[in-house]
Amino acid sequence: VLGFWPHFLSVNPSRGLMDEQFVVLVQNAPPGSELTVHSFHQCDEGHSWNAFAHYISDAAGSVNVSGDCSLGGTYSGIEPMGLLWSLRPVPGSKPGLRIRKKNVQVPMLVTVSVYEGHRKDGFSDLVPLASVLVERWYMAPGVRRIPVTEGGLTATLFLPPGPGPFPAVLDLWGSGGQLMEYRAALLASHGLAALVVDYLTTKNIKETEKMTIFQYIETAYKYLEEHLQILGSRIAMLGLSFGTSVTLRMAAYSKIMKVTAEENICPSHDDPRVAEEGERPESSKPLEILPRDLSLPIDPLKKVDVGRLQCPLMLVVGEDDQNSAAQESASDMKEMMERAGNSHLLTILSYPDAGHLIEPPYTPHVRASNFKPAGLKQMFLWGGQTVAHSRAQEDSWKKILLFLRVNLFGGTRPGAAPLSRL
Ligand SMILES: *[C@@H]1O[C@H](CO)[C@@H](O)[C@H](O)[C@H]1NC(C)=O
Repeated sequence: VLGFWPHFLSVNPSRGLMDEQFVVLVQNAPPGSELTVHSFHQCDEGHSWNAFAHYISDAAGSVNVSGDCSLGGTYSGIEPMGLLWSLRPVPGSKPGLRIRKKNVQVPMLVTVSVYEGHRKDGFSDLVPLASVLVERWYMAPGVRRIPVTEGGLTATLFLPPGPGPFPAVLDLWGSGGQLMEYRAALLASHGLAALVVDYLTTKNIKETEKMTIFQYIETAYKYLEEHLQILGSRIAMLGLSFGTSVTLRMAAYSKIMKVTAEENICPSHDDPRVAEEGERPESSKPLEILPRDLSLPIDPLKKVDVGRLQCPLMLVVGEDDQNSAAQESASDMKEMMERAGNSHLLTILSYPDAGHLIEPPYTPHVRASNFKPAGLKQMFLWGGQTVAHSRAQEDSWKKILLFLRVNLFGGTRPGAAPLSRL
C-alpha cells in the first residue's frame, strides 16, 4: 500500500495562465507501480468535468506527465497538457455542455490527484494518494478589467499592466452573442489591449436602439481610438465564426475604421446584410431585433469583397468544421484576393481534423454543444477530433499572437507584415 508522502505530487506552476504549460510530477512511489493521474474541474455553471490517464512509475518511483506515456484514459501517449484538453463532463452529466469562463476575475480551478491502480471511474468515491489545486488564469497579474458603457456599448476593455499606450484588438465572438471576456483577457495578459463587445444580444439601451451592428462596431472602434491608453493608429480586429463576417465587412467597407490587421477564426465572408454608407434599406436591422430573428442577417449569395482589404488578414480554418464552410470560404477569399492583387496580405492556417470552435490552448474540446443563436436553443455540431483539435488550438494561438504582435507593434507602416513573410 502506498502512503501519503510529502511532495508526492507536484504541479508546476500551480498558478499560471490558461495557455501556459504545466509539469505534473509524481515522486516517491514504489518503482513500477500502476498509478492514475486525474484532473477535476467544476465549471462556472456548476457542471463537473474530469480527465484521467494511466501511468507506471519508473525505477525511481516517478511519473512525469510531460515526458511519460499514458497507457490509457481520456488520452494516451505523451501529452503534457492532456489533463486539461481531454477534460469531459463526468458520467451522468446532461448532454451538450461546454466550458466557457464567465468570470475571468477568478481562475479556472483544477484539482489534480493521483490514485493507486489503474482506475477508470468512481473517482468521487476513492481517496486519492495526493491532490494539488491548480489555478489557471485568463487575467495575468496587473491586467485591468474595465466595463465599458460609453455610447451605449456593452463591452469590456482589458488593459495590460503599465501606462501604455497599447495597440488594441477589437474582439468579436459569433452568433451566440453575450459578453464573453476570456479571450480578450488572455490577449491583455500577452501585452495587447483588447475590447470585447456584445454586438448581438444587447437590448434596451437607448443610444444603440436604432444602430445597425456596423454602427455599433464603429462606436466601439471610436471608443478605442480616443482612449488615452490606446494607440489609436494600431487597432486590429479578431473575429470568430459570424464575427468574421462582421469584421471582414468593417475592414472592407467602413469609412471610419482603419483596421491595422485582421484575424479570423473559422472564417466566413458571407456578407452580413447591411446598408452601404448613407442608405438604410429594411435589411439594416436595429440591434435589438437581431436576437429574436431566427436567421442571422447574412446573405450567403453575396460575399464581402475582400479584394478591397488593405490590411494583413489571417484565416484560421478547421478542416473538420461541421458548422460552417470555412474551408470553402477561405479558398474563395484567396481567389478573390489573387484577382484583386492583394493576396500578399493573406495568411491561411488550415488544420486537418480540427473543428469549428478553435479556442485558446487547452480549452477542452467539445464536438457538439447546446447553443443559442438568435434565442433558439439547440444542439450544434462543431466537429473536430479531440487530439488534432487540441494541437490546432495550441499551434494557432501562438501564431495568432505573433501575427497580432508583429502587425500591431512592428514596422513603421501599419499592416506591413503578413505572417507568411516573417
Ligand atoms: C519532465 O519532463 C519534461 C519533458 O521531458 C522535462 O522537460 C522536465 O525537466 C521533466 N521534469 C522533471 C522534474 O523530471
